[in-house]
Amino acid sequence: MKIITSATHKGGEAKTTLAQVIASYTAQLKNKRTLLIDLDKQGSLSRRYLRMESEETRAEIDGTAIPPVHPDYREGNDPSDFPPRTSFHGIYHGQMVVPYPTSIPNLDIVPSWSSRLDAVLKNSPDYLLERVYNRPLEFFKLPELRSAYDVVIIDTPPDKNPLVIGALRASTHVFIPVQLAQMSLEGLEAMKIFVGQQNDVVCSDHEIKLAGIVPTIYDKSASQKKRLEFLKDQHGDLIIDPPMYKRVTITRLSETPAEPSSFLEWPSSVMAKKYGHKKSQQENDKHELLETCEEIYKRVFK
Ligand SMILES: Nc1ncnc2c1ncn2[C@@H]1O[C@H](COP(=O)(O)OP(=O)(O)OP(=O)(O)O)[C@@H](O)[C@H]1O
Ligand SMILES: [Mg+2]
Repeated sequence: MKIITSATHKGGEAKTTLAQVIASYTAQLKNKRTLLIDLDKQGSLSRRYLRMESEETRAEIDGTAIPPVHPDYREGNDPSDFPPRTSFHGIYHGQMVVPYPTSIPNLDIVPSWSSRLDAVLKNSPDYLLERVYNRPLEFFKLPELRSAYDVVIIDTPPDKNPLVIGALRASTHVFIPVQLAQMSLEGLEAMKIFVGQQNDVVCSDHEIKLAGIVPTIYDKSASQKKRLEFLKDQHGDLIIDPPMYKRVTITRLSETPAEPSSFLEWPSSVMAKKYGHKKSQQENDKHELLETCEEIYKRVFK
């Protein structure tokens, strides 16, 4: 089972979008049974697939959300066997984590639950942190999970917190999205080192591969072109080529709820009518994104 993580400590670099498009690609085009995991308490990935609910009035204001009741949950189920709502926090408490189906075939998601993920961080004193770091690696070794999925894709928060460390340590492949902006590039080297450090501390039978740096939201301006060349000079083959171009169709994927939530459905009359796009533009955007996904896919599966 491949475990792909989209990570960088900088906000807004397209971590979530990257996780979303790779998931569509593996699930729909490559027929891989794919599990998405939302480790970000902002829950933006979860909102792209599920109707998230609010925990309390305050939660609505600060945007935090809880997963809906699982569609297979039945009143009277033993909550320790099948809790009504689950998120990845359950793995730290020995609870059942039941992935939610999405509208996309072959694609399930373990959503975010803001307060619960927060509690994992707040209630883990230093001597228990090793557990937060190592639990995901143990979880992904479960035979039930390995027989149910071919690939897991983890979306992480813009942070280097213990949940992110745990995700990195469990990963087989890490992709770092980066915008071609000065501030984004400044943090890249540190993130690369951070991934390498996690690989140094995991057990010797598990390798965390930094599989690619993905230039994102690329607008082909002269300054961005220059930075892309610089990146290629610095990091060589690590740079995913072609980059993810800045496209309004891609921005639309993050709308709530996304319609459709897969870029593979782009040249559809519904989308074209809704946003007034010409089919040819959408086909062009889809073609570009397919090439980027193919490059990422090759690095994981070949
Ligand atoms: N290639 C693209 N073209 C246009 N817009 C994009 C592209 N990629 C991402 N975006 C938009 O940029 C914004 C940030 O993207 P996204 O949420 O994926 O970033 P993130 O790194 O996950 O952010 P955060 O750090 O808050 O989790 C979103 O509104 C998204 O729709
Ligand atoms: Mg995100």
